[in-house]
Amino acid sequence: MLQTEEKLAVVDFGGQYTHLIARRIREFGIYSQIYQPEDKGFLSDNKVKGIILSGSPDSADLQNQKIKFEISQVSKPMLGICFGHQLIASCVGGKISKGGKREYGSTLAYLDTSSLLFKGMDKKQQAWMSHSDYVRELPPCFKTIASTKNIKIASFENADKKLFGVQFHPEVTHTENGKQILKNFIEICNFNEEWNLSDLKNELISKIKKKAKDKKLFLLVSGGVDSLVVLALCLQAAPADKIYPLHIDTGFMRKNESDEIISYLEKNGFKNLKLIKKEKKFLQSLQNVVDPEIKRAKIGKLFVESLNEEISHLDTNKWMLVQGTIYPDTIESGGTEKSSKIKTHHNRVKEIDKLIEQGKVIEPLQELYKDEVRQLGSELDLPQELINRQPFPGPGLAIRVICSNGKIEADYKAEKNKFSQIVSKYKLSGRILPVRSVGVQGDFRTYHHPALIWNKEGDKIDWENIRSAAHGGINNLTEVNRVVYSIEPVMKKLNLGELYLTKDNLDLLREVDRVVRKNLQNIKEIWQAPVIMLPLYNKSQGHVFVIRPVCSSDGMTADFYEMEPWLLRKIIKDVRDQINESALIFYDVTTKPPGTIEWE
Ligand code: XMP
Repeated sequence: MLQTEEKLAVVDFGGQYTHLIARRIREFGIYSQIYQPEDKGFLSDNKVKGIILSGSPDSADLQNQKIKFEISQVSKPMLGICFGHQLIASCVGGKISKGGKREYGSTLAYLDTSSLLFKGMDKKQQAWMSHSDYVRELPPCFKTIASTKNIKIASFENADKKLFGVQFHPEVTHTENGKQILKNFIEICNFNEEWNLSDLKNELISKIKKKAKDKKLFLLVSGGVDSLVVLALCLQAAPADKIYPLHIDTGFMRKNESDEIISYLEKNGFKNLKLIKKEKKFLQSLQNVVDPEIKRAKIGKLFVESLNEEISHLDTNKWMLVQGTIYPDTIESGGTEKSSKIKTHHNRVKEIDKLIEQGKVIEPLQELYKDEVRQLGSELDLPQELINRQPFPGPGLAIRVICSNGKIEADYKAEKNKFSQIVSKYKLSGRILPVRSVGVQGDFRTYHHPALIWNKEGDKIDWENIRSAAHGGINNLTEVNRVVYSIEPVMKKLNLGELYLTKDNLDLLREVDRVVRKNLQNIKEIWQAPVIMLPLYNKSQGHVFVIRPVCSSDGMTADFYEMEPWLLRKIIKDVRDQINESALIFYDVTTKPPGTIEWE
C-alpha cells in the first residue's frame, strides 16, 4: 500500500472485518494501516493520529496483558469494535459476560446522539451484530451511549480520554449509517493529510515489474473481475509475449460459460488466452467426495496440477504465477495469524501456499476488496460489462451441489418442536433439514443445519416477518445457521438421499441456474444469485433446489434480496417447465453473517 505521513492504526485481532475497517477509512481519504497487537509501534508513533481495535474470534477475557497495560497509557483517540470494545472495557476495569445473549445479524440500537461518535445520526439505527460476549459493567468515568434490546452497554465513551467502544460493526454496510460513525471518529482524530486511491494503479504495476523481472507470467483467468484486473495490470507491467493467461474448464462452470469467456475476452482485446479442458479429470477426482473442505482442497490441487503441466518444460526460476487473490479470499481461508478458517478459497490451498513460500506467486490485489478491484478495473479502462460481472467462486458448481452418501449424521437431532415453536410465533411452520451448510458466526466457521419455513396459512409473502423468524430461529438454536423459505407448504417429509458430483447432476443444476440467471440478469441490486442443489428427496416432487440472491457491496456481509412474489413464482414455474419435473424450490433468507453467501 502507499506510504503516507499521517495514518490511522487498525489493530488486527483476527476478526473477519479488520481490513474492511481499514478500507472504509481509506474511502474517506485517510490512510489506514493494519498493525498486529504485539507490534507496539502504533502507540508511540506520532504519525498515528488514532487507533481502532478490531473484532476477533477470541474472547476478551483471554486478553493480552501487554495490551492491557499499553491501553491505560495511551494518549491517542481509540475506538474499540466488538472484541475491541470488550477489550477496552475490560482493560479499564469493566466486566465482561460470556455468552448467553447471542446476537447475529441486524438489531435496533438506541443511540445517545449527544456523543461526538454519533454526531448527526438518528437516535434509532439498525446495527449489525456478530457476537456472544458483551460488556456488563463499566467504571463510573465511562458513559453508556448506545443500547439494544438485549445489551445495555452496546457502546460507551470516555469523552475526556477520547476512548470509545461499539459492540456492533460500523464498518459493514448493513449497519445503517455505520460510515458516519467512522467518519465521526476520524474527525475526533484530527487529521491534516489526505490519501488518494487513484495512485494505486501505478504502485501495483511497479510492484509487479519489480517482482516479475523478466520471467514468464502465468495467470489462471476465470472470467471474473479479479483475475481480469490482474491480467490488465500485468499487460502494463510486462511485454505481452511474457504473459500466459490460461482458462481451465473444470466441468464445474455454468452452462456454456468457458466458451463464452474465451470469445468475450478475445472480443475485448485479450489475446492468447488458452482454454484447457479438464472436465474428466476434475469429475473423476471428486466423484465420491462429500465433505466441502475436501472438495475445495482437491479442486485447488487440480488447478495447480493443470498449471504444472503447462510449465513442466520451463526452468523453475523462469516463471511466476500471478493470482487475483483479494483480501476476503485470504481472511476466509484463515490466512492471517489470528483469523479463523471459514472456508479454503481455491487460491489458498496448500499447494499454492507452498508456491508462495518459494516466492513464485505475485498477488497484487491481496489487500483489496471486490468493489475496490472494480474501481481499479475502471482506472484500467476495462469494459464495464466485464468489471460488473457477478462473482462466481473458483470451485464453481462443485460447492453448490450439496453432496451426501445418504446417511443421516450422528449429530442430527431434529429439534422439530423447538424450531416450529419459535417460528409459529410468526405464523409460520418450519422444520430443521438433515443437511448442513457453512456459516460465519462471531468470526468463526459454523457447519450446521438449515431450517425450512413456510406460511401456516395463505401464500402472501411478508419478507419482514420472514426475516424476523429467520433471525429468531438462528439466534435461539445453535444447530441452525441458515433458513430457507418455501412459498408453498411442505407437508411431506424430505428424506436425505445420495447426491454426488456427477455430470448428470451438474447438468441439471446448470439448467436450473440458467433459468434463474435469465430471470434475474437485469436486477442491479443483486450481487450474485447462487443456485444450490440439495440431497433431499420426496417421492412426488423430484429434486430440491435453493436460490440465494443476495445484496452486498464487498461480499463480506450480505443481505438476502427481497424478491417480488410474482417473480419468485415465475422462476419456480420456469424451472419446473424447463426440467420437466415438479422440483421443490426454496429461497434462502439468511443474511451474512450468520450464513455465508455460498453454502459450502
Ligand atoms: P462466502 O460464501 O464466503 O463468499 O460468503 C464470499 C464471496 O466469495 C466467493 N467465493 C469464492 N471466490 N474462490 C473464489 O474466487 C472461492 O473458493 C470462493 N468461495 C466463495 C463467493 O461466491 C462470494 O462472492
